[in-house]
Amino acid sequence: MSELKVLFTRQQIAARVAELGAQITRDFAGEPVTLIGVLKGAAIFLSDLSRNIDLDATFDFISVSSYGNEKQNSGEVKMVKDVDQSMEGKNVILVEDILDTGLTLSYLKKILEAHKPKSLRIAALLDKSARRIQPIHAEYVGFEIPDEFVVGYGMDYAERYRNLADICVVP
Ligand code: IMP
Ligand code: MG
Repeated sequence: MSELKVLFTRQQIAARVAELGAQITRDFAGEPVTLIGVLKGAAIFLSDLSRNIDLDATFDFISVSSYGNEKQNSGEVKMVKDVDQSMEGKNVILVEDILDTGLTLSYLKKILEAHKPKSLRIAALLDKSARRIQPIHAEYVGFEIPDEFVVGYGMDYAERYRNLADICVVP
């Protein structure tokens, strides 16, 4: 683990997540929201973000598999676990760890739009916009990052390092 280099400290993450939560609270002013976390990477971000949102909020989780482990993403996305309830008429915020090629969120957005939500927005902790294949925009972004592989704060490399409190770069 000593070869990992810290990119964002736990304090930097906490400060930025608090700002995102405050922004969401202002944007939805008094309306209920449903946060949908993309398992497993977004679990920690969702738990911190939700506690910075001062609105009536519910959680749901979705799980997709991207056919390819570790650093490679083949580009194909398959639903492993869908939402438990219909999102019809709800203010849905899809909560994701990283917006990378955009394939995962484009796929999920299409599926959720079919539920006819009242609104559908994306909150991504990190955005690697240089890697985008599918044009997709997140309304709430924690940090823009360069094309590097990162772990920690929920994010993994072959399922390891999710429990690191800081976000680190894998060399
Ligand atoms: P997509 O390429 O935008 O579809 O992103 C797919 C998924 O790849 C993200 O949700 C992350 O789980 C994962 N991913 C992309 N870049 C990284 C990284 O640097 N570290 C860990 N996971 C990543
Ligand atoms: Mg993910």
